[in-house]
Amino acid sequence: MFDIQEIRSQFSILDREVNGKPLVYLDNAATSQKPNSVLDVCHAYYTELNANVHRGIHTLSQLATEEMELSRRKIQKFINAEHDFEVIFTKGTTEGLNLISYILTQKLQKDDEIIISYLEHHSNIVPWQLLCERTGAKLRVIPIDENGILQLDYFDKFLSEKTKVVSVNQVSNALGIVNPIEEIIARTRKNTDAYVVIDGAQSAPHFNIDVQKMDCDFFVFSGHKMYAPMGTGILYGKREILEALPPFHGGGEMIATCSFDGTTYAGLPFKYEAGTPNVGGNIALGAAVDFMNRVGHENIQKHENALLEYAQRHLLEIEGLKVYGEKAHRTGVVSFNLEGIGISSDVGMILDKMGIAVRTGHHCTQPIMEFFNIAGTVRASFAVYNTFEEIDLLVEGVKKAQRMLS
Ligand code: ALA
Repeated sequence: MFDIQEIRSQFSILDREVNGKPLVYLDNAATSQKPNSVLDVCHAYYTELNANVHRGIHTLSQLATEEMELSRRKIQKFINAEHDFEVIFTKGTTEGLNLISYILTQKLQKDDEIIISYLEHHSNIVPWQLLCERTGAKLRVIPIDENGILQLDYFDKFLSEKTKVVSVNQVSNALGIVNPIEEIIARTRKNTDAYVVIDGAQSAPHFNIDVQKMDCDFFVFSGHKMYAPMGTGILYGKREILEALPPFHGGGEMIATCSFDGTTYAGLPFKYEAGTPNVGGNIALGAAVDFMNRVGHENIQKHENALLEYAQRHLLEIEGLKVYGEKAHRTGVVSFNLEGIGISSDVGMILDKMGIAVRTGHHCTQPIMEFFNIAGTVRASFAVYNTFEEIDLLVEGVKKAQRMLS
């Protein structure tokens, strides 16, 4: 049974006040709060287990290694990867995307093409621009319509033997739009041999992920947006692809042998995990997966969709309020502006005084803002612990901001 108060009781931070008001945390697309079960695992790691992994013969090192590898297997199950060694620990989505774009360098040459979309976060734009600079490849960008929906007829026109990479997000961070990645992957497979990269930063916290069914080559996401600590993330890559590509960072742990005459590399996943990992964080990411499994994906989605529908309906009752992507299929996010109030942070500051945390500005998606000819939006984003009462407070807060700023 889905008991919202029981879920909220697992997040101590939700009891705090901000500016003398109970915290209403609606900035989950930036980072989610962490349940006590995850925090307990972090604390237990440093008080009972702290040691470096994969290196020590001593007991603590072995226990820490076992816990981290157990966490890897939990994540393997969470995304339904075929092998646990296809799950690479990173420090987040940005690192994952930079890693992929770097190791693909030798696979691209001048005039090859990389397709992304207008809805991407800067972290799924800039690494590809850097790859273009290194190789002479060109970036092609799937346009959107006035609802923020990807124009797939352009995508079809872009696809050719020159296409070497297609990299899109499953859910847009700025607008919450759910992109038709099944369709994008199917069309890419049908027409090209391109690598398919899916940015799951905003989908992994909400959806059931099945990388085998999806048939992507790479899938990346962040732990901290799905109830795990900061500085955690995952890069999934298909075995044969990761095995064939070169390493990213060089250092300890990623070698099989190292001499001044040359180095051979370790097998997966260690080839891509140079240096000491965030052991406690990686173990806690497994605990976050446990938390999500306990609540249940169906419950998470049902509740968050209901929150979104409720928020959009009541926000749109405010005269002069525009929701971006209003008619698109969305999850977890409502992004809006008030007519005549050009600076979204003014609204954000008034909401903050009322204890309500939202993100304002361009959300690291300047091309989307440019498309809508705005400087930014007010973005409220939801997690499983949010309530309808909190949305009522948001709506009241926005009305108050409108009165104060008009
Ligand atoms: N990418 C994060 C966001 O959308 C930080 O807020």
